[in-house]
Amino acid sequence: MTITVDPTAPAFRYDALPLFDRLLREQPVTPLVGGGVLLCRHQDVAWALTSHDVRRPTEWSVNRKPEGPFRDFGRNNMISMNPPDHTRFRQAIMPAFSRKRTDAMTRFIETTCDRLIDDMRTRSSGDFIRDFAMPLPVTVICELLGIPTEEEDMLRIGSADMLAGLEIVASPEEFVRASAGARALFDYLSGVVREREHRLGDDLLSLLIRNERDHRLSRDEIVWAAITLLIAGHETTTHLLGNGLLALVRHPEAFAALRANPDLATNAVEEFLRYDPPLYVLFRQAARDFEIDGTGVAEGTLIMLSIAAANRDPRHFDEPDRLDLTRTNARDNLSFAAGRHLCAGHALARLEGQVAFRRLAERLTDVRLAEEPSPREGVMFKGYHTLPMAYCWAD
Ligand code: HEM
Repeated sequence: MTITVDPTAPAFRYDALPLFDRLLREQPVTPLVGGGVLLCRHQDVAWALTSHDVRRPTEWSVNRKPEGPFRDFGRNNMISMNPPDHTRFRQAIMPAFSRKRTDAMTRFIETTCDRLIDDMRTRSSGDFIRDFAMPLPVTVICELLGIPTEEEDMLRIGSADMLAGLEIVASPEEFVRASAGARALFDYLSGVVREREHRLGDDLLSLLIRNERDHRLSRDEIVWAAITLLIAGHETTTHLLGNGLLALVRHPEAFAALRANPDLATNAVEEFLRYDPPLYVLFRQAARDFEIDGTGVAEGTLIMLSIAAANRDPRHFDEPDRLDLTRTNARDNLSFAAGRHLCAGHALARLEGQVAFRRLAERLTDVRLAEEPSPREGVMFKGYHTLPMAYCWAD
């Protein structure tokens, strides 16, 4: 009997991994209630991310949003675009993510981690999300864009509200908050861009303004590109840090191995991304008719790609349910997608994770959950609102 799944069902929100495990074993190409198909195998998800037979479902993502600033964001958000618009945006922002520029952020990230840890050390317990996992990426993205951190709260709340609106299970109230967030961020960043024009620097906003004509990005498009970076770059990284620390707390032998050898942090970040990715699923659409694993998929069909399932496919990863910080192919995880929409900030996010886990392993002697954490309840974005921890710090 064919299994059919409803992507908005509670299983996807609260306990998706057992469902993905079953589908990987029994039916890796699965019809979706209401039309569409879910792909789970690593080879199928990797293929769909890179194939020209598959594209972004731009109209679907724009039309789901209520008319207003949040829908304007949908129209101007490079993640939902296809070429040629996507190429225009991508070429405009990519120089800011060169190897040289990312490496140049190392010192800043180290200093920020040390400052946050020094502050956490004054208490023996606290919420890891509030105290570390949230402020680190926000500070880094503000530095990258060249925007002052005084407005950190507004930026954080506005982009968190917009991210919640991107969920396929967003409620009408969440759409209202997402629209208010889009308006607040657009107004604020439009002001910053207007002012930056008169004192261009080395930051990403200045780069976009300087290259405005080359890349044919309008002023509004520059502001939307900055908002996309804010949203794409911070909560995802927060969840890499939060989900990673929780994995260590739940696997004390892995934490002990990392403490004994902080150089493991580089591979540990890949394993955290594989084991519990910040984004569980992505959406695409068939650009033409094709067949996958004997199932015909017609042009226009909505395709849901499970990154979380692909990362635990036993055909690709040995003992996929085991957290193994020394796993040799951990970097084959698909958590940053692949192909045309490969995460623009993947090197920066990896660097933030590597520095953070190295610093935490060097300075913590023990860490435990102080209370049960409160998980996000989305289908796409996975992480925690709070992670109350009890710490023992090295002298
Ligand atoms: C652990 C942290 C991160 C994860 C897991 C992550 C994941 C992803 C994924 C899966 C996509 C592709 C979405 C799709 O195709 O549907 C993406 C795109 C993107 N990400 Fe990230 N991301 C992270 C951090 C960052 C950071 C730090 C930045 C920037 C500062 C960033 C900027 C972007 C941008 C601009 C795109 C759009 C790329 C395009 O459409 O061409 N991300 N990210």
